[in-house]
Amino acid sequence: MTQAHSDAGAGSGSPSLTDLAQAAGLRMEEMDGHQREVGSPDLFERISHFQLADQARAAGLYPFFQPIEVNDGPEAVVDGKRVIMLGSNNYLGLTRHPKVLEAAHDALDRYGPSMTGSRLLNGTSPVHLTLEEELAEFLGMETAIVFSTGYLANLGAVSALIDRHGISVLDRDVHASIYDAAGLALGKYTRFQHNDPEHLDRVLSNLNPEQARLVLIDGAYSMGGDLAPLPELREVCRKHQTRMLVDDAHAIGTVGPTGRGTRSHFGLDEPDDLTIGTFSKTLASVGGFCAGPRKVIEYIRHFSRPMLFTAALPPASAAAALTALRLIDEETWRVQRVQEIGARMRRELDALGFDVANSATPIIPIRVGDEVRTAAFWRDLLDHGVYTNAVIAPAVPRGQAILRTSYIATHSDDQLDRALQIFEEAGRRQGVIS
Ligand SMILES: Cc1ncc(COP(=O)(O)O)c(C=O)c1O
Repeated sequence: MTQAHSDAGAGSGSPSLTDLAQAAGLRMEEMDGHQREVGSPDLFERISHFQLADQARAAGLYPFFQPIEVNDGPEAVVDGKRVIMLGSNNYLGLTRHPKVLEAAHDALDRYGPSMTGSRLLNGTSPVHLTLEEELAEFLGMETAIVFSTGYLANLGAVSALIDRHGISVLDRDVHASIYDAAGLALGKYTRFQHNDPEHLDRVLSNLNPEQARLVLIDGAYSMGGDLAPLPELREVCRKHQTRMLVDDAHAIGTVGPTGRGTRSHFGLDEPDDLTIGTFSKTLASVGGFCAGPRKVIEYIRHFSRPMLFTAALPPASAAAALTALRLIDEETWRVQRVQEIGARMRRELDALGFDVANSATPIIPIRVGDEVRTAAFWRDLLDHGVYTNAVIAPAVPRGQAILRTSYIATHSDDQLDRALQIFEEAGRRQGVIS
């Protein structure tokens, strides 16, 4: 719970939801996870006041850790019922692709489920090396290094580069893993307003000119589904001789004419200084990477504690990601289809009266605001056959809860039509639209 949002939101429940929330005694501030400041030295005693999760479960409004019994991609089985899956990051629908499954099975047979050690000592297989090579080629970068998750890729790159003389400069809305990366790094961090190059310019102007800095942004924002204004941000960075790391976790495979991410969307020839990506979204697996100039990646490889001191990504996961990466180019219809679906759903949800913020990707948030209303909307949709993600603080600022919806290239038009009808009915019932 380290994301530094503290803005208090207004939040206005409809009468029935307010009643329900009050009856259940839901106190959203408990999600901040603070311990009691005074009291027993017993740590467990200090956190014993946290009851929100139990209360939300009792009210039937708990939207988290929901077991998914079967996951076919565009549909899943939840609570024994088949639902349309609008709550995954499987954007190109590759998790069940026969070639991906076959590659993972083959690597499992060859290497077993784990390399039982870190990349440094005994965890590097030929699959890791091929994956690094092909990721770099795909992105037009010199080289890449594979981490065990995308979270660790951010932690590893930033903590290796920002020593106590450096400073991380974050867009306010970057993913929590970048906040955590800035926290792990020995240098300080500061922030600029979301997607605001002028504010970034002012922030950089105020820094000590001798201090090494790294600007950290997401290419596509995981909750808002909006894109960073990459050309303008690059220009500001250049002016201040400042390097920029772009976390393109959600843009790879979904953004740009061939799915090569934010840079290609804006037609920029020059690669990012550093690109972070994950395999847990379009690439149908688990793991992450950092791509960049050979010298810099070589440095990260040897000084990144989240690379050196954790077990390597299993080769089966690497093989699945490698095959998914190749499929982006082999089956180009997937990128086109997911972009078409994103455009259609944005248009139609907006026409129904939902507030879809500034989404420009297959991630489409529906702004609700009040946390309890968001949970009730989530529950209503699930009860009627649509699985989505309820997102509350600390993933978004308090009082700015959203329902996050995301789309898959293999969703059929019929599934999307049905989902829209269910959205409209549940949206009216829960007072999200009038
Ligand atoms: C923008 C962004 N960066 C990094 C990550 C972390 O990726 P992983 O799931 O591979 O740890 C995520 C995942 O939610 C993300 O959305």
